Amino acid sequence: MSTPPDAIVVRDLRKSYGDHEAVRGIDFAVARGEVFGLLGPNGAGKTTTVEVLEGYRERDGGDVAVLGHDPASRPRALRERVGIVLQSSGMYRFLSVREALAHWASLYPHPRGVDEVVALCGLQDKADARIRTLSGGQARRLDLALALVGDPELIFLDEPTTGFDPAARRLAWEAVRELRGLGKTVLLTTHYLDEAQQLCDRVAIVKDGRILATGPPAELGVGAATRAQVRWRDADGRPQEREVEDPTALVHELTAAALARGGTVAELTVTRPSLEDVYLQLTAEAPAERDEQAVARV
Ligand SMILES: Nc1ncnc2c1ncn2[C@@H]1O[C@H](COP(=O)(O)OP(=O)(O)OP(=O)(O)O)[C@@H](O)[C@H]1O
Ligand SMILES: [Mg+2]
Repeated sequence: MSTPPDAIVVRDLRKSYGDHEAVRGIDFAVARGEVFGLLGPNGAGKTTTVEVLEGYRERDGGDVAVLGHDPASRPRALRERVGIVLQSSGMYRFLSVREALAHWASLYPHPRGVDEVVALCGLQDKADARIRTLSGGQARRLDLALALVGDPELIFLDEPTTGFDPAARRLAWEAVRELRGLGKTVLLTTHYLDEAQQLCDRVAIVKDGRILATGPPAELGVGAATRAQVRWRDADGRPQEREVEDPTALVHELTAAALARGGTVAELTVTRPSLEDVYLQLTAEAPAERDEQAVARV
């Protein structure tokens, strides 16, 4: 059996607004069934990239394929297979939540049940409320519900949980995990690195219209950035700290010595940089500085 083609393929994508180059040659591919995240500072070019893929924005250069189609011509065959959460939306202000979802569902050939999606997004109490009366977070939940109700095979989520309370965020994570379980493909952007770590199979870190790194969240920055920090207090109670590639031998040495004297290793911790640490390091430095520092640390 041959591997199915990627759901999204982006090659050398470029987009300028006037003389500002917002996207400067981006390449990535998203496999079918994958949850892929775009991370990066404000103004990095994430929404521009996503909007080109959604067919909302014309590109200046590069090749883009979404489920085998060029989204630029907004083919109907593609629209029926894709669900979208825009970074900001304000549709249907005078309809109720249920009416808006029913209307949106009617545009898709095989939609999900409206009540099922209402429950999935935690909107049961607001199903009959006018949309203009929703709070910011509730309106955002509706945006997510609108993206799911058509039961599309590919879902674009541009900052889907911005403004969500912690419980709503967990609910949205469950919804994305459910999509993944159903074999759907998801492209999301987020500023919450724990969200990326929880949900994404792979992420790309974007800055100034370019991709700085791509990979599974746990493997990003492999090398200098992922060395382990081992901290403990020695037999005299003095704090100690060492940075090592693999902490196994050091921890063995410390624990063996402590056991031999019938004691413990006080306050022993082994930590690795989180995705947030790697992200901050990558986005704070120009590429040239980064390489030098990586060499300096070895
Ligand atoms: N319609 C537009 N006209 C002019 N410039 C724009 C337009 N849309 C975006 N830009 C500029 O392009 C750059 C990239 O914007 P984009 O919205 O893609 O960033 P982003 O990565 O989504 O940022 P954020 O995290 O803030 O959502 C920014 O510098 C922005 O000011
Ligand atoms: Mg954006």
